[in-house]
Amino acid sequence: MNNTLIIYYSLFQNTKNLAIEIATQTGGTIRELIPDVNYSFDYNTASKEVRNQISRGFCPKLISGNVSIKDFDTIFIGSPNWFKTVAPPVMSFLKHHDFTGKTIIPFCTHGGGGFSNIENDIAKECTKSNLLPGIAVNGLVTSEEISNWLMTIKWRFKKE
Ligand SMILES: Cc1cc2nc3c(=O)[nH]c(=O)nc-3n(C[C@H](O)[C@H](O)[C@H](O)COP(=O)(O)O)c2cc1C
Repeated sequence: MNNTLIIYYSLFQNTKNLAIEIATQTGGTIRELIPDVNYSFDYNTASKEVRNQISRGFCPKLISGNVSIKDFDTIFIGSPNWFKTVAPPVMSFLKHHDFTGKTIIPFCTHGGGGFSNIENDIAKECTKSNLLPGIAVNGLVTSEEISNWLMTIKWRFKKE
């Protein structure tokens, strides 16, 4: 069994597309986090909703994707960069699980800010894990860029 899990949240599909590419190249299991109340697709409204949740440390209830991590050793965790940190549904997932002994690999998509605090914020929730360097993507990324990155972190990915 491939013991790799790819977990992500995505509002506008950018992070989803990146997650799908990682899953394709690693052969891992992919799961999308879906909160009970999703955010508006209007940028200004979403900004207000997200700012409000992040400032309160609010972690929404997840109605999909919050799977057991017991059978997975390597977990890719992906989020859009939202005000320099992870989207609240990703924080819900991080708070809900014990990542002791797991290998954690962050990934994000962004509008120019790169990871900002995302890697650090994930690290704070995964203190007893092996954190590998992630990838931050702005716009389109090629399969080759992803495979090069996977090589640099010495990920031995499987293709069927
Ligand atoms: C509410 C909100 C906050 C954002 N904050 C940032 C930010 O602080 N830095 C940044 O580089 N991009 C920011 N962005 C841009 C997103 O990170 C970028 O568009 C991302 O690719 C969206 O991912 P998605 O398509 O998976 O939802 C923000 C977007 C939204 C909607």
